[in-house]
Amino acid sequence: MTPRSVRITGWGMYAPERRLTNADLARVVDTSDEWIVSRTGIRERRIAARHETTATLAAIAGKRAIAVAGLEPDDIDVILVATLTPDYWMPSTGALVKEAIGNTRAAAMDIAAACSGLVYAYTVADAYLRSGMFKHALVVGSETLSRYLDFSDRGTCILFGDGAGAMVLSASDEEGGGMRGMELTTDPDGAYMIWLPSGGSRSPASGQTLARGEHYVRMEGKETYRYATKTMATTALKAIERAGWKPEEIDLFIPHQANVRIIESVAKGLGLPMEKMFVNLDRYGNTSAASVGIALAEAVDSGRIKVGDKIVLVAFGAGLTSGGIALEWTADPLNGKRAATVEPVATVREPLDWSSVDPIPDRLRQVLEGNAGPRVPLDDVVPGEPEPANRDEVLA
Ligand SMILES: CC(C)(COP(=O)(O)OP(=O)(O)OC[C@H]1O[C@@H](n2cnc3c(N)ncnc32)[C@H](O)[C@@H]1OP(=O)(O)O)[C@@H](O)C(=O)NCCC(=O)NCCS
Repeated sequence: MTPRSVRITGWGMYAPERRLTNADLARVVDTSDEWIVSRTGIRERRIAARHETTATLAAIAGKRAIAVAGLEPDDIDVILVATLTPDYWMPSTGALVKEAIGNTRAAAMDIAAACSGLVYAYTVADAYLRSGMFKHALVVGSETLSRYLDFSDRGTCILFGDGAGAMVLSASDEEGGGMRGMELTTDPDGAYMIWLPSGGSRSPASGQTLARGEHYVRMEGKETYRYATKTMATTALKAIERAGWKPEEIDLFIPHQANVRIIESVAKGLGLPMEKMFVNLDRYGNTSAASVGIALAEAVDSGRIKVGDKIVLVAFGAGLTSGGIALEWTADPLNGKRAATVEPVATVREPLDWSSVDPIPDRLRQVLEGNAGPRVPLDDVVPGEPEPANRDEVLA
């Protein structure tokens, strides 16, 4: 039977305890707190501890969202994890999260749409539930970006942080509520504006790719900025129009938390004041697929969202992708208090015959310990264009 509506019934977030401030970064790359705050709005970000991974972060946020929805883990029929920093290439992080939350019956998989991933995953879950195929979906955005950053590249290492944000979507017999309009875009013209060159089939990981630092995130900051300011307002507007609403009717926007100047340009593009934009990037930086989920959970729990509100989730990211969802809020915000019953602990089983390397890269460890040595001169930063892996050499 097809439901009358599909609604958000649970929300939750988790951010690792360890904070990395702008001042900490200024000790290792040529930057300053003043530069980072004025160009991005970011003051600090969280860094996952050694025992934490994308799956454990996702499991804690997920368990919180399930508790808020008033459900048990086994009530979830499908788990979608949006991430660009999975625990492994396979199995999916979704599969690990399923075990870690104690679910025995759900289908689980990952969604790769970079920072737009959680918005994309929401639309996939919504379609499953609207069709009547499933009743409850857990949708999580989770990232441990600190393990994929070059802490000698001031253009990227200042921007990103770790964390997870989750939602439960549930099929309902009541009319109204949930997603009313959406817009998803993918523009491969910008495929190499934000990318991670090696480790995939085009350039398998090797000693050479490692030496060239091709296992780290690369980004053309200025081009990405231009794309984001051009796309985000339009994407939000299309979702709003499809809902039959006008921008001024929206109670709160939950934008991807990349840069406060980008969020300001979205507000300007829609002719709205900044009070309509939820901002928490000062405390978390850009947590990619997790950012909209963390922001939504904080917005509800801080009293910024009430029943009947019109909300817009909007994100952009590598691909280049963008996604917007215009939705009507139906859940009692006070249910958020149930998240406190979930301890911030999750364990993902490891194979018996395998011991992984230390998950904290050397330079990040030095940054965290405050002894990374002198600041990296810019000449030493890995150059922009990576060389393709030498296939002849590999095949020889
Ligand atoms: C990265 C970003 C903050 C840079 O800000 P910007 O205002 O565009 O700065 P520019 O790149 O023009 O650099 C201006 C100067 O600051 C320098 N600079 C760059 N990063 C710096 C840093 N962390 N600290 C100090 N100076 C820095 C540049 O080298 C440049 O110096 P120059 O003029 O001597 O060449 C901005 O472009 C941005 O936010 N882009 C979008 C990134 C993003 O959102 N990515 C994720 C997508 S999901």
